[in-house]
Amino acid sequence: MRKTLIAGNWKMNGSNDSIAELLSGIRSQINSAWNCDILVCPPSIYVAQVVNQLAESGVNVGGQNVSDQDSGAFTGETSANMLKDAGCTYVLVGHSERRSLYGESSHTVAQKFEKALASGLKPILCIGETLEERENGTTMTVVNGQIDAVIDHLGIEKLAQGVIAYEPVWAIGTGVTASPDQAQEVHAAIRAHLAQSNSDVAQKTQILYGGSMNASNADQLLTQADIDGGLIGGASLKANDFIAICTAAG
Ligand code: PGA
Repeated sequence: MRKTLIAGNWKMNGSNDSIAELLSGIRSQINSAWNCDILVCPPSIYVAQVVNQLAESGVNVGGQNVSDQDSGAFTGETSANMLKDAGCTYVLVGHSERRSLYGESSHTVAQKFEKALASGLKPILCIGETLEERENGTTMTVVNGQIDAVIDHLGIEKLAQGVIAYEPVWAIGTGVTASPDQAQEVHAAIRAHLAQSNSDVAQKTQILYGGSMNASNADQLLTQADIDGGLIGGASLKANDFIAICTAAG
C-alpha cells in the first residue's frame, strides 16, 4: 500500500510574520490520526525557522531546489547537505518553473536527484507536459523522457527511493486543474512505464498530482487509483485550504 503524501510548495512567497501565522494555523488543526504524510517546502532562507516552528508536529520540511554540486564556488546555490543539515527530509527537483525559467535540463535534474539521495533527502521529481505538448499528443513522450533521464543516470532502483510529482504545466497556477480522469490516465501510464523496467518499483512508487489542486477538487483527485498525493502551490499558502486537502487525504 502506498502512503499518501500532501506537499505544499510555497514557491517565493512569505515573510517571518506570514509564515508564523500559516504554521500556527496548520499546527492547530493537524490531526495525528490522518493516514498521510505532510510536507511543506518553504523558500530556503526560511527552512531552519520552519523546522523549528514545526518541531514535534510530525510535519516534514523540504527544499524547493538543490544544487547539482556538493560545495565550493557556486554563488547563490544551496547544497543537499545544507538542506539536510537544516532539518529537511525532502527536496523538489525539476519543478517546471526551474526547467522553464532557469533552463534546467533533464540531465541536470537527474544530477540533483542524485545529490539529494546521497545526502539522505527524498527527492520529489517533478515532471509534466506543456499545453502545446498535450495538444500535439506528446504528453507521455515528454513525461516518460523526464523520468528516463533519472533512470538512465541512476537506475530504476534509485528512482524508487524518491517520489514522482506529475504536474501538467498548463494546470500550474492557472486555476485549470486536470480532471480526475485526465490525471489518473497519465498516472496509470507513468506506472505502466515504470513497470516495463521493474514492476515492483512501479507498484511502490508514490506519484503525486500537482496543478491547481485545492480544497474543493482534492477529494476527487486523491481517490483515483494511481494518485498518491498532491503537490500544492497556491492553496498551500492558506492554512485552512491546506488543512482541508490534508483532511481529504487523511
Ligand atoms: P499550484 O502550483 O497548486 O499553484 O497550481 C503547483 C506547483 O507548482 O507545484
